[in-house]
Amino acid sequence: MSETGFDALDIETLRKRKSEKWHHYPADILPAWVAEMDFPLAPPVQRALEEALENSDAGYPISPNKTGIREAFADRMTKRFGWTVDPGDLTVLSEVVQGLYLALGSLTEPGEGAIVQTPIYPPFLQAVKDTDRQLVENRLVRKSGGWEIDFERLEAAIAPNTRAFLLCNPHNPSGRVLTRQELENLAELVLAHDLVVVADEIHADLTFDGRVHIPFASLGSEVAARTVTLNSASKSFNIAGLRCSVVHFGSPALRQRFDSHYPQHVRGGLGLPGLYATIAAWRDSQAWLDQAVAYLEANRNFLAGELAKRFPKIRWEPAEGTYLAWLDCSEMGWQGSPTQRFRERGKVALSEGGKFGSGFEQFTRLNFATSREILTAVLDRMEKAL
Ligand SMILES: Cc1ncc(COP(=O)(O)O)c(C=O)c1O
Repeated sequence: MSETGFDALDIETLRKRKSEKWHHYPADILPAWVAEMDFPLAPPVQRALEEALENSDAGYPISPNKTGIREAFADRMTKRFGWTVDPGDLTVLSEVVQGLYLALGSLTEPGEGAIVQTPIYPPFLQAVKDTDRQLVENRLVRKSGGWEIDFERLEAAIAPNTRAFLLCNPHNPSGRVLTRQELENLAELVLAHDLVVVADEIHADLTFDGRVHIPFASLGSEVAARTVTLNSASKSFNIAGLRCSVVHFGSPALRQRFDSHYPQHVRGGLGLPGLYATIAAWRDSQAWLDQAVAYLEANRNFLAGELAKRFPKIRWEPAEGTYLAWLDCSEMGWQGSPTQRFRERGKVALSEGGKFGSGFEQFTRLNFATSREILTAVLDRMEKAL
């Protein structure tokens, strides 16, 4: 076991978890798909949950607004990202994806267009379809340094009925962390075409090589006034199962539309453990997170080296953030899905590229938030599928 404990959990221990990652596929398949980490919890988060258990604290939760969760988020945004947030502009929900659906449903009308940049975390595509909005697909383009926005094509895609831009930054699955210049170019288009931005910034903490995430709403008051930001401690601190997220409204008008669209009860409630754990994560777990990000960055570097050695034909622009590797297997010359091949022949589960947008069927997504030992086992199994 290392000093940090990030490689403390072996496969046998991880299989005792009841999570989807470890139980969706049969036990002979090693999971490296859904975005959760094979790490132990941050000690302050663990303590907060233990305390709740010791007190049998499982009653109805008090209003999230009285727990200090909004202040914890606001303080964190100022301290880490230089973004001044008024706690009064925040609402607490249970899921980021829930926020995505609610924002689309309340801030746009059926039939109006929502821009999604593919490849993209699949619920973005599903949310647009499920809410009967029109999917406006703007593909990212691959340059030598990674996936980038083609601003000319983006502007050409905006039609008179296009109302929303769904931003995912840091980006799942490419791992891109957009630069200030890219965000400013985006802001210019958004202002010129009067779009509402729904910014999913759930991976904000997970950035490498000294990069610092820039919240879209921090670009200025005009930009903030049309931006709804979604965030959560669930990715960075690996508490996705505890169901807790925050929404920031850059203007009272956005908040009013969002809040009045669905009755409170339709949104569902929050559990106390999610609230306690999120506050402990944001307030007390930075030291753990710094170590986790360093471990992930080292895993990213290890993965880049191993892929180049073992799979020279698989193309990857190493992630600038997140813990996801977006692998292009098209030069392997395989028939059918590489994800299926890895699963059937190598007994390793990655995420199906085609679900991230059309034209990405020869891609697969690998989650490298695991111990170095398990990551090596994932690569060994992938090699068996060759
Ligand atoms: C970009 C992005 N948004 C949202 C989520 C899920 O968040 P939640 O479970 O809070 O809906 C994920 C999970 O991987 C994600 O990568």
